[in-house]
Amino acid sequence: MKKIAVFTSGGDSPGMNACLRAVVRTAIYHQIEVVGIKHGYDGMINDEFVEMDAKSVANIIHRGGTILKTARSKEFMSLEGRQKASANLMKHQVEGIVAIGGDGTFCGALELSKICNIPIVGCPGTIDNDLIGTDFTIGYDTAINTVIEAVDKIRDTAESHDRLFFVEVMGRDAGLIALRGGIGVGAESIIIPETKTDIEDLIKRLESGRKSKSSKIIIVAEGDEAGGAFKIAEQVKTRLPEYDTRVTVLGHIQRGGSPSAMDRVNSSRMGFAAVEALMQGQRNVMIGIVDKNINYTAFENATKHIQELNPDLMRMVGILSL
Ligand code: F6P
Repeated sequence: MKKIAVFTSGGDSPGMNACLRAVVRTAIYHQIEVVGIKHGYDGMINDEFVEMDAKSVANIIHRGGTILKTARSKEFMSLEGRQKASANLMKHQVEGIVAIGGDGTFCGALELSKICNIPIVGCPGTIDNDLIGTDFTIGYDTAINTVIEAVDKIRDTAESHDRLFFVEVMGRDAGLIALRGGIGVGAESIIIPETKTDIEDLIKRLESGRKSKSSKIIIVAEGDEAGGAFKIAEQVKTRLPEYDTRVTVLGHIQRGGSPSAMDRVNSSRMGFAAVEALMQGQRNVMIGIVDKNINYTAFENATKHIQELNPDLMRMVGILSL
């Protein structure tokens, strides 16, 4: 293998730069040339290919976002777009690709592989942790630490005013940020798309909860079927007017910031493993880390969105928040 391409795609996540650095430096160590593709699949279509060397990834391990920029490409969804992308990859004599992104990125990679014979290996870059085949995706640990830091601050003011707060966190299809973040802040309840939201039960719990508790924090995943923090708070307010209720949506602060130690190390390991996987002839697989070991999962299986929640965690939340 003489030349590989690397790109980041979909929502950015803290640790993408660390992964990129590992890909570039591992390839260079093995005397493989590297081109970076800017703006994800859009850049593949628009020929935004840039040469990368060891220096181009210096001093980025600690930076959030992605120096290659990212996009959610509409054009790549069409066959015509993918054909343009494929022609550019051939023009640049790319022999292997590392795709850093989430499920949309890997679904796109699978589509590309139907018309382009260049092997693709993925690294799981998303704060949502909603991919099968890795314990932690790149950015998830940093995101939950951001949630914890923010909600700790909300707890201070909630406690001072004896208030009930609904805090909405990211996770369009998955409640894993809400679950871990919620456990970390000692949330009174966690509302996620993976479990049926029972507003009656929530109201009962709020009515019967420990009266001595002056603040209450409910963490809501944005993708919950009940409609997000504002909608749920409205319903609760009507039924429990005695609570002084507020809503905070944490939003995109969860995607930014310097990656945690865990994200830096995992991203480096996965970027390193991705290049070696390409060299070993792997294709259409996502690198992951399971039980501390590097793991390979076919793109089709990685993107299935069926991360099973540990039922013990949900049971524990109920018990610890009493
Ligand atoms: O895919 C990660 C994610 O952060 C989701 O949790 C969230 O719903 C979405 O991206 C937001 O995307 P955008 O930045 O395009 O609004």
